[in-house]
Formats: sequence, structure tokens, C-alpha cells
Amino acid sequence: MIKEDIRLALDNLKFSRAIYSNFKVSSVLTAKNGKKYTGVNIESASYTPTICAERTAFFKAVSEGVLEFESIVIVGGKNGKVTNLTPPCGVCRQVMMDYCDPKTFKIIIAIDEDNYQEYTLEQLLPLGFGAKNLEG
Ligand code: THU
Repeated sequence: MIKEDIRLALDNLKFSRAIYSNFKVSSVLTAKNGKKYTGVNIESASYTPTICAERTAFFKAVSEGVLEFESIVIVGGKNGKVTNLTPPCGVCRQVMMDYCDPKTFKIIIAIDEDNYQEYTLEQLLPLGFGAKNLEG
């Protein structure tokens, strides 16, 4: 499962639109219903509209009514060459907090099928702010 998702994420790096930073990122998000949502980073000439690979995957799923998630695999590297782990940025961690259970949602950052690390969202975003906090 994890290895297949890593392979898919690596294969999809070619779709990344990292036309300014040249830092290509690709992700595979698995929903609780078993469906997979892929995402790449898409950069804008105006810079700030740029979206990360992780949020592309989440918003694809959410826009189809899928709201429960199990895990996400993330790979990235300069010019699409993956030599280091790519941890999710703070904005993406917040979006994960908006849609995932911090104790069970798994974030897998990978170099290849044999080199990866697995974390829970709670480990990468301790004391995160989520919908529960708005309940008062
Ligand atoms: N990027 C991602 O896609 N995900 C991350 O978690 C880290 C950063 C993208 C955004 C931008 O297109 C490029 O990597 C350089 O920051």
C-alpha cells in the first residue's frame, strides 16, 4: 500500500507545474473509502496563488464530497530529482487538521519505496487548531 502510493507519487512528479522554483512535489492522498487522490504543486506567475501538492490532493477530494482520510504520501525534489524527504508546509498541515483526525492520520514522507518516514498529524502539528476549538 505505502510502497504503491510512493511509486505513484514519484511517477506523477512529471505533472508538477513548478515552473518558477523548479521544486517539484507530488502527493497521493488515501480516503477512508479507499479512493486515491493525487496532487502536484502548481505555481503561478503571480507567486501567491501557488498551491502545494498536498492541498491539490485534498481539494480534489473535498470538491467531490470526500471528507474522511487515512494517509498521505509526499515526495519532492529540485527538478523532480528526489534526494531528500519533503515534509509538508505549515499551511498544508493546517488543511490536514481541518479534515483529519490528528491521532490517526498518517503522513508518509518518502525518497523512494525503501526510504520513507511515517508520522501522525499530531506529531507534525502538536496542539493544532481545528473545528473542535470553534465549538467553545
Ligand atoms: N511545496 C509543496 O508542494 N508542498 C510542500 O509541503 C512544500 C512546498 C511546493 C510549493 C512550491 O511550488 C514549491 O514547493 C517550493 O516551495
